[in-house]
Amino acid sequence: MGEDGRPPLVAAAGVTRRYPPRGGNGRPGAAGVTALDGVSFELGLGEVVGLVGRSGAGKSTLARVLIGLEPVDAGEVRYEGSRLDSLDAAARQRFRADVQPVFQDPFNALDPRQAVGAIVAEPLAIHRVAPRRERGALVARLLADVGLPCDAAFLRRRPHELSGGERQRVALARALACEPRGLILDEPVSALDASVRGQVLNLLLGMRERRSLAMLVIAHDIALVARLCQRVVVMAVGRVVEQGPAATLLASPASAPTRELVAAAGWLAQLPAPE
Ligand SMILES: Nc1ncnc2c1ncn2[C@@H]1O[C@H](COP(=O)(O)OP(=O)(O)O)[C@@H](O)[C@H]1O
Ligand SMILES: [Mg+2]
Repeated sequence: MGEDGRPPLVAAAGVTRRYPPRGGNGRPGAAGVTALDGVSFELGLGEVVGLVGRSGAGKSTLARVLIGLEPVDAGEVRYEGSRLDSLDAAARQRFRADVQPVFQDPFNALDPRQAVGAIVAEPLAIHRVAPRRERGALVARLLADVGLPCDAAFLRRRPHELSGGERQRVALARALACEPRGLILDEPVSALDASVRGQVLNLLLGMRERRSLAMLVIAHDIALVARLCQRVVVMAVGRVVEQGPAATLLASPASAPTRELVAAAGWLAQLPAPE
């Protein structure tokens, strides 16, 4: 339960997720990978949490588990206190609209044949957010919210005609279309140039101010998430090894994996963490 007595938006309790050995030609009896090993995690309403760890720590697996894209072998995942596997069709539809993923490479997430206007309008139709005649105005507002133009020429562009930063903004506009209360952002700026990275980070910082938009921000750069998030969770080899206020983790990391991440962040880690 959160401080206000309401259940977290999404939560994992003691979740284990194992993958079979990769490929069909693995040795018989070869051990698979335990990507998540008894992980518990909560994202409260309106909370902005960072999730960091080296590559392979299990961050993306946790992200997929939290949005119901992947089953678990043990433990449970809950949406507003109800187990995902017990949601009826209506609740599941609500969950899909309410907790939206944003992935590292939006190029894979965006349909290459669809134009920007259609990409952003689609969820409005699927989730029946607005009648057809109101969709144009909503798309324009969503694009403006993420700092994109909304003129007819831009609406007609296709993903390959956009820069990496523009694509990630389109993905964000689409994710925000059905007014979700939660975003699960898996390495949202890792694929972007350093200059554009700052712009998208500022955009996320602005979105943090939106009342009651919860965000899970996944990154391998602890300094980056410390700028966005009040609370940071550190994972290593499928487990949560440490968590706490961003400033505390940066100033006095208690575990070896956290120390490693802080050292890797170098001078960036010296920047002040947000309030
Ligand atoms: N679909 C999959 N099949 C088999 N192994 C996987 C799959 N996805 C991830 N893994 C393995 O699970 C572990 C955790 O991966 P992942 O969640 O992607 O970590 P991270 O996002 O922290 O880099 C890694 O060892 C990875 O190789
Ligand atoms: Mg990952």
